[in-house]
Amino acid sequence: MPRYLVVQAPEDGVRLITLQRPEALNALNTELLAELAAELDSADRDPAIAVVVITGNRKAFAAGADIREMAERDLVGILNDPRVAHWQRIAAFSKPLIAAVNGFALGGGCELVMCADIVIAGEDARFGQPEINLGIIPGAGGTQRLLRAVGKPLAMQMVLTGESISARHAQQAGLVSEVSQPELTVERAMQIGAAIARKAPLAVRLAKEALLKAADTDLATGLRLERHAFTLLAGTADRAEGIRAFQEKRPAHFQGQ
Ligand code: CAA
Repeated sequence: MPRYLVVQAPEDGVRLITLQRPEALNALNTELLAELAAELDSADRDPAIAVVVITGNRKAFAAGADIREMAERDLVGILNDPRVAHWQRIAAFSKPLIAAVNGFALGGGCELVMCADIVIAGEDARFGQPEINLGIIPGAGGTQRLLRAVGKPLAMQMVLTGESISARHAQQAGLVSEVSQPELTVERAMQIGAAIARKAPLAVRLAKEALLKAADTDLATGLRLERHAFTLLAGTADRAEGIRAFQEKRPAHFQGQ
């Protein structure tokens, strides 16, 4: 049983993971990150799970790395930091990951948001990389993913000043896909998760892979990968079912084959 996570399956095919460390605004200590990496590994292996939604509470999605734990680490501790491997496992999750964000998403919390594929934010959410105030820089992908998400001027402003931005600003900038009332954030994320869970699993997986490739490759390579994935899907039973269902004017029933 995880200590810092609540794991539920309120919708068919969708697992809901709630960060549960409210006394520290869901600060991401090593144990929490290890539990999260393990949960995502298990969801990746489970054919009954199509999508994972991750959330926090109304005050905080996550207020960053655990600063108390950081204070105990010296240079050697940082060089051998087990959290690096946990972050790599979290970022490698191959099914769609939806973040439902209320309150603070700061430092590692904002970096966790950027590992997600779809981000639903409550109107009161705040996104920021305040590490500069601690004399450090983001260490879980923040400089790289933030610049790719929001572009250079805003990424520079956020990382160099440490100041956070609102949910609306984050949406305009491309960090957030949808803004909702805070009390509906998780419900909306679950709705989107359930809609994706009804699609053809192989197409969903290859669509995510192709879209992520667009962020870190040249256009010609990305187009080749898309064509390759598109061709692979031509041989699937789900493609035949999708086309047949359209022609027969009925919902498709995909089997992941
Ligand atoms: N680590 C450890 N504990 C934290 C924490 C963190 N990142 N953020 C908040 N807490 C703790 C506080 O110490 C406090 O605990 P106590 O009651 O025991 O003192 C509790 O959570 C509540 O926090 P506050 O009293 O500070 O709440 P607030 O509403 O006054 O302020 C806040 C909220 C502005 C988010 C403030 O807590 C804050 O600035 N937190 C730190 C944010 C930050 O700097 N994050 C970056 C961390 S570094 C990082 O993430 C590196 C990386 O790239 C991976």
